[in-house]
Amino acid sequence: MKILITGGAGFIGSHVVRLFVEKYPQYQVFNLDKLTYAGNLQNLKDLEVEENYTFLKGDITDSAYLESIFSENAFDAVIHLAAESHVDRSISGPMAFVRTNVMGTVNLLEACRKHWLGQLEGKLFYHVSTDEVYGSLGDEGLFTESTAYDPRSPYSASKAASDHFVRAWHHTFGLPIKLSNCSNNYGPNHFPEKLIPLAIHNIKSGKPVPVYGKGDNVRDWLYVLDHARAIDVIFHKGKLGDTYNVGGVNEWRNIDLIELLCDVMDEKLGRQPGESRRLITFVKDRAGHDARYAIDSSKLMGELEWAPSVTFEEGLRKTVDWYLQNEEWLEEVTSGHYRDYYAQQYGER
Ligand code: NAD
Ligand code: TYD
Repeated sequence: MKILITGGAGFIGSHVVRLFVEKYPQYQVFNLDKLTYAGNLQNLKDLEVEENYTFLKGDITDSAYLESIFSENAFDAVIHLAAESHVDRSISGPMAFVRTNVMGTVNLLEACRKHWLGQLEGKLFYHVSTDEVYGSLGDEGLFTESTAYDPRSPYSASKAASDHFVRAWHHTFGLPIKLSNCSNNYGPNHFPEKLIPLAIHNIKSGKPVPVYGKGDNVRDWLYVLDHARAIDVIFHKGKLGDTYNVGGVNEWRNIDLIELLCDVMDEKLGRQPGESRRLITFVKDRAGHDARYAIDSSKLMGELEWAPSVTFEEGLRKTVDWYLQNEEWLEEVTSGHYRDYYAQQYGER
């Protein structure tokens, strides 16, 4: 089987590529990535020698490019992760989200439709999406696969649009599809614009840790390798045309999470208990900040027998260890454009 994985140089994609290349030597894995600020080939350096791995540098918004790689390689399946993924960037510059997440996804669907025409048997377009398409919850309730879409940020609106297009290509053209909508991921290779790696980076460097608003927004956190395992099981065993919610059964208020992270960092860095908590700084809230995300993964857990493999405390410790052991990775990605982004978002360097 020839599998095209898009966005494989990014955070989640890099773990999915690694899992497929290492676990399935009989598959040919192609990683298509534009290498935006969020894509980093360093994440997959050691895989470059593997015979069943090929990197393709390209942009999913470029339909002529997609046509050329589909013609050359006759892919059997696509796992689509390439996206603009950061909510704050979608507020300061929404058009990149419309181009990549909406247009890019439709380009890929069209490439599959054209190249798989009349021979859909055994083909699969697997679209990786987010729980943010469901909107924002109050204190009670969970997102299920039948929760109505109610996206509220440019990011979640662009992902919701892409989900609708994927389902439309299934219903109208018979394209074999699967979707999954996952909660917030954390773990190694996470770009330090997102809450957990940004906080690790700032705590380590003794810089203020920015918490938006009152810090009472709630997110459901899943260790990234558990998301990759879920994608593996859905890819192989999920029902065609179906959607699966993926979550960690692990809700945290942002402020509680950051306090726990500060305590873990104190311990790992040999600081006095409570020292890092002094860095916590409440800053202006995000525009339209969704209050709570929480996901019901019982369909995935029941039908496909998936479950998270680590507790949050274990996963967070593994994550902190990884960032402390990979200082070069962090230094490399936090130079250059990152500094400009940080200055624009937080008003300092
Ligand atoms: P990321 O930003 O770390 O990586 C995205 C990757 O896509 C990068 O390598 C980037 O270079 C590539 N890319 C961007 N635009 C491209 C284009 N036009 N053509 C080709 N490649 C392009 O994102 P992530 O956090 O790894 O998320 C991956 C997917 O999972 C996204 O679709 C996202 O919506 C979804 N998701 C993320 C989370 C999360 O918590 N991070 C949760 C649920 C779902
Ligand atoms: P983030 O990691 O950007 O993921 P998402 O917005 O997709 O959930 O943010 C997680 C939560 O942390 C979210 O409620 C916003 C908040 N947050 C902060 O409080 N400070 C920060 O500097 C960042 C980046 C996020």
